[in-house]
Amino acid sequence: MLKNKKIIMGITGGIAAYKTCEIVRRLKKLGAQVIVIMTQNAQKFITPLTMETLSENEVVTEMFPEKRMVGVRHVNLANWADFILIAPATANIIGKMRAGIADDILSTVLVSTKSPVLIAPAMNVNMYENRIFQENMEYLKKLGYLFIEPGTGALACGTGKGRLPEPEVIVSEVIKLITGKNDLEGKSILVTAGRTEEPLDPVRYISNRSSGKMGYAIAEAAQRRGAKVTLISGPSNLSIPGNVNFIPVKRAEEMYLAVKSHFGKTDALIMTAAVSDFIPNVVSKDKIKKTSEKIWLELKPGRDILKEMGKLKKKQILVGFSLETEDEIENSKKKLEEKNLDLIVVNNPNVPGAGFEVDTNQVTLIDKKGKVEKLPLLSKQEAAGKVLDKVSGLMKK
Ligand SMILES: Cc1cc2nc3c(=O)[nH]c(=O)nc-3n(C[C@H](O)[C@H](O)[C@H](O)COP(=O)(O)O)c2cc1C
Repeated sequence: MLKNKKIIMGITGGIAAYKTCEIVRRLKKLGAQVIVIMTQNAQKFITPLTMETLSENEVVTEMFPEKRMVGVRHVNLANWADFILIAPATANIIGKMRAGIADDILSTVLVSTKSPVLIAPAMNVNMYENRIFQENMEYLKKLGYLFIEPGTGALACGTGKGRLPEPEVIVSEVIKLITGKNDLEGKSILVTAGRTEEPLDPVRYISNRSSGKMGYAIAEAAQRRGAKVTLISGPSNLSIPGNVNFIPVKRAEEMYLAVKSHFGKTDALIMTAAVSDFIPNVVSKDKIKKTSEKIWLELKPGRDILKEMGKLKKKQILVGFSLETEDEIENSKKKLEEKNLDLIVVNNPNVPGAGFEVDTNQVTLIDKKGKVEKLPLLSKQEAAGKVLDKVSGLMKK
C-alpha cells in the first residue's frame, strides 16, 4: 500500500517512544522506505540500534556527524521524504516548530521540508492542557500541519488526555494521508456547526450545549479531501480550521440567512449546528429587571433551516444531524423524509462518549433508501470521515 513511499519518522524524547518500534515495523511491512531521525533525548528512551534494525536504514541522530557526508544533509533528507511523521512528538518539538527553531537535525529537517508533516503529540495531561502548548498546536494546525489526536486514558504519570494512539491507528492515518483521498476535489461544501444564541434581553440569551466539534471536524476533513469549504458557525471556542471560508453567526435567523445565501452554489450542505428550536417571542430592549415574582418566557418555534433548504434543494446533497433521546431511528427516518434529506446522522447524547462537548461520537447513518448503518464509538474526526465517505458516494450517483 505504501510501496516506495519515502517516510521520515521523527522520534522525540517521550515515554511513548517504545511504541514507535511497532509503527516502523508496520510501515516497512506496507512497503515504505523509512529513515528514522531521533533527537538526543529520544535515545534515552530507545536505542538507534533498535530503530536501525527495524527500519533497515542508518538512523540519523547528528546535525554534524563525525563522518561527514557530501551534500547538505538536512536539505537532502527534507527533499527525500514524501511524508514526515513525528511520533511521539514532545511538547518541546511542537514548541520549537511553532517558533521555527532549527537547533538539531530533526527540527532543522522540519524547517526545511515542503512535504506533509503528521504530528502525534503524547505527554502528561497537564503538559497537554498547558495553554502555551495548546496555542502552539493550534498555530501549527492553521499553517496546515496535520495532527493525530492523542487518546485519553492511563498515562505514564496519571490519567487523562495525552496518550499516543496505538501504532495501528497512527499507521492507518499515514496510509490515508499518503494515498490521499482527494474525492471531494472541486466540490463546494457548506457546513454549519455549533449552537445558536437567542437573546432575551441585552445581557441574557437561551442556547444549548453544542460545542461545534463535530461540524469543525467535518469542515476540516472536507477541506483536506479537496473540497472548497464554507463553515457557518455559531459561537464556539474552537479554533477555526485552516483554508475554510469562515462565517460566524449568533442567532438562528443569521444562520438561516447565511446558509440561504450560499446554498445555491453548494454541492452539499451538512447541517451539524444545533439551531434553537424555540426562540423568545419578544426580545426586551432593556435588561429584564430582577424580581422576586415568577416571570414567564414566551417562546415561539424557530426556523427549521434544514427543512427550508429541503424545499429549495435542486441537485444539492442534504445531510442533517438528528439528536434524539428516544425512538431515535424511527424519529430520524421521519425527519429525513419530511425535510427532503439524502442522509441523516443520528446521535443520542445519552450514549456514553456521544453527543455534545466530548471528543467522540457514536452515530448511526440513515440514507434515503432507509439503510441504517450503526457505527461504533469513534473520534469526531473519524466520524467526520465516515459521513464524508457517504456524501462523496452520493455525489457520484
Ligand atoms: C521519563 C521521562 C518521560 C518523558 N515523557 C515525555 C512525554 O511523554 N512527552 C513530552 O512532551 N515530554 C516528555 N518528557 C520530557 C522531554 O523528554 C523533554 O521535554 C525533552 O527536552 C524533550 O526533548 P526532545 O523534544 O528534543 O526529544 C519526559 C521526560 C522524562 C525524563
